Amino acid sequence: MSVKLVYGVGFSLALLLAIQLAIAKAPIAKPNCTDHCENINIPYPFGMSKGCYLDEWFEIECSKSVHGPPRAFLSKIKMELLNVSVGGWAIVKGPIISFNCSGSKTDPPVNLTGSPFVISPDNIFTAIGCNTRALMTDNPLQRLGCESTCHGGQNDVDWREMLHNLINEVSPGDYRIEGTCNGTGCCQITNIPSSLQVFNPSFQDIDSGDQSADGCKLAFLGGTYGMNSWKKKNPNIHFPMLLYWMVNSSLREYWRGVDSKTLDCNNVSYSSSFNEVVLRCLCSHGYEGNPFLRCTGKFTLSC
Ligand SMILES: *[C@@H]1O[C@H](CO)[C@@H](O)[C@H](O)[C@H]1NC(C)=O
Ligand SMILES: *[C@@H]1O[C@H](CO)[C@@H](O)[C@H](O)[C@H]1NC(C)=O
Ligand SMILES: *[C@@H]1O[C@H](CO)[C@@H](O)[C@H](O)[C@H]1NC(C)=O
Ligand SMILES: *[C@@H]1O[C@H](CO)[C@@H](O)[C@H](O)[C@H]1NC(C)=O
Ligand SMILES: *[C@@H]1O[C@H](CO)[C@@H](O)[C@H](O)[C@H]1NC(C)=O
Ligand SMILES: *[C@@H]1O[C@H](CO)[C@@H](O)[C@H](O)[C@H]1NC(C)=O
Ligand SMILES: *[C@@H]1O[C@H](CO)[C@@H](O)[C@H](O)[C@H]1NC(C)=O
Repeated sequence: MSVKLVYGVGFSLALLLAIQLAIAKAPIAKPNCTDHCENINIPYPFGMSKGCYLDEWFEIECSKSVHGPPRAFLSKIKMELLNVSVGGWAIVKGPIISFNCSGSKTDPPVNLTGSPFVISPDNIFTAIGCNTRALMTDNPLQRLGCESTCHGGQNDVDWREMLHNLINEVSPGDYRIEGTCNGTGCCQITNIPSSLQVFNPSFQDIDSGDQSADGCKLAFLGGTYGMNSWKKKNPNIHFPMLLYWMVNSSLREYWRGVDSKTLDCNNVSYSSSFNEVVLRCLCSHGYEGNPFLRCTGKFTLSC
């Protein structure tokens, strides 16, 4: 009887321990560092206080807001962070650059020059307007943009309605903006250069070539991937922009000294602006944690 009881206790304790182990995830942040801001995981090299991030480029500010939950910002580049991965990508709230759109203030342009971030070529450039040539880059080496016209002398667009109509839910929770513009009222280009660090689009009148013209003109760079928080009905519409990031060689050197079975490393080329193929490591299959800190064997419950 007593043996049975001890057995019972031992069994449930083992089970509890197993469950505890399964729940206790390998750390993604440095010791004593907060590893999330609201529902966004913040893995090292990103961090929220001194000693928790690699350098100031990776500093995250988790700011309390009066309306609603705290939001995460990449302090140095002043962009709102929506998600980030140790795999080298980050999703930020993409700026919407507008001109003469009633009820809409333009967001500031993006300049990531000198930072470890580049704009991913997986984003799509979308422009809205009538009689509008929207230029994403306009320099002697590269002039890239698209043209949008409207029917029958119409010279303005309902930008709110247009933005909402851009978002297609292709399957539940999977929202996409690709292929929703045909040059009438809006236009898109998908061949974004891979080395882009500046996004400061300009607008021209197609007819006159003038800088300013009638009506609202607007442009943004946004990803095509799904995102649960990206709701069609959201009145404060925004578009997730995909960035790539990388660490400098000193941190990558660290990987060469680590037991190779815990890491799965590849040489990848993010962009020609980084001018090199860089080593990138993830935790190997069966391991979890943070490749920049430590990958530990996953506890698996085999029953
Ligand atoms: C973490 O915080 C605890 C309690 O404040 C302290 O004893 C410990 O040394 C800290 N560890 C590190 C790595 O800073
Ligand atoms: C961030 O991305 C990961 C992987 O795609 C996903 O599992 C997670 O839910 C995302 N987090 C947020 C806050 O969107
Ligand atoms: C790499 O970045 C770290 C953190 O910012 C810095 O301390 C170090 O000097 C850098 N090393 C090189 C080789 O740039
Ligand atoms: C972007 O920033 C860099 C350095 O901060 C500066 O030299 C450059 O002129 C800026 N580019 C644009 C297009 O604003
Ligand atoms: C382009 O799309 C608009 C609105 O979705 C539609 O009214 C128009 O007929 C389309 N034009 C062409 C050439 O497909
Ligand atoms: C803004 O657009 C309106 C027409 O919608 C036009 O009358 C006005 O001149 C435009 N303003 C500028 C600064 O281009
Ligand atoms: C990455 O490239 C370097 C040389 O540029 C090479 O020594 C190394 O073996 C490569 N690593 C992998 C995982 O392919």
